[in-house]
Amino acid sequence: MEKIKCIGVLTSGGDAPGMNAAIRAVTRTAIYNGLSVKGIMRGYRGLINNEIVEFHSDSVSNIIQKGGTILRTARCPEFTASEGRKTAYDNMRRAGIDAVVAIGGDGTITGARIFAEEYNIPIVALPGTIDNDLSGTDSTIGFDTALNTIMECVDKIRDTATSHERLFFVEVMGHTAGYLALNGALATGAEAAIIPEMETEDDQLKTLIDNGFRKSKNSAIVLVAENPKTGGAMGLAERVKREYPQYDARVTILGHLQRGGSPSAFDRILASRLGSAAITALQEGQRNVMTGIRNGEIVYVPFSQAISHTKKLSQDMTDLVRILSI
Ligand code: F6P
Repeated sequence: MEKIKCIGVLTSGGDAPGMNAAIRAVTRTAIYNGLSVKGIMRGYRGLINNEIVEFHSDSVSNIIQKGGTILRTARCPEFTASEGRKTAYDNMRRAGIDAVVAIGGDGTITGARIFAEEYNIPIVALPGTIDNDLSGTDSTIGFDTALNTIMECVDKIRDTATSHERLFFVEVMGHTAGYLALNGALATGAEAAIIPEMETEDDQLKTLIDNGFRKSKNSAIVLVAENPKTGGAMGLAERVKREYPQYDARVTILGHLQRGGSPSAFDRILASRLGSAAITALQEGQRNVMTGIRNGEIVYVPFSQAISHTKKLSQDMTDLVRILSI
């Protein structure tokens, strides 16, 4: 096995608070272990466009507390084509990079998996996404901060919802997963969470109304996971207007503010541990794995498992939202 001397680090896909802490941990752990580091700008696009910069210990100074990513990020359709990956590989080798740490979500790991297999490159991924939809890890970097942002926003919406005695649908991100909506609902005492995972089971809006969720309450907040199939919060509010006109419904879409802000202590620590573990993994000869956290311990999750969408939302938690909102 070729000895690794130089690591390239990149962030790709949607940004997430804590990515900077991860870049810092990767960079400093690598340097501490005698490796050199190069920052690849704008994710896979930067590999294709040859935007590669030398990284030193002070390249990552004063960033642990910052949201976003100093490496910038992008979604790169060119990388899904073999010509794009060939250019990326050539640039990578020319820059002397012999292993890559890729920080991102589902799309990033899918790209890493194909690239690693095609060119036999050592790649380790870090789960960087607010969606928490990667399997094999209890949490992804950015999820906790986004959840706290949602909590602050919903607490504010609660004030006006109560004053006006209104039904609010608050739409949160999550790609196709309901982790932010369900956890957000528990954290804010919302009356319900409407999530894609339950979509096939029943008509969640009808169940909510039929259960008489407003009987003892003058207002209600429902956290809705974004969902193009149902139209998300807007789609639900339109249905209420048509089918249950007795309710005065309003919609708030939290949008990209969920992706910004200074990372929470939890995300900074998680990113630091996972970033450092990525270098250990590469030095131990691990390939095609994502570093993750299970029950407080670092684990290495094969790419195929990480993107398998087999992580289950806890039924206990969905039940708890219902029980606690009576
Ligand atoms: O994957 C992170 C995420 O924020 C999703 O929750 C959301 O669906 C998507 O990215 C939004 O992407 P964009 O920033 O390209 O609009």
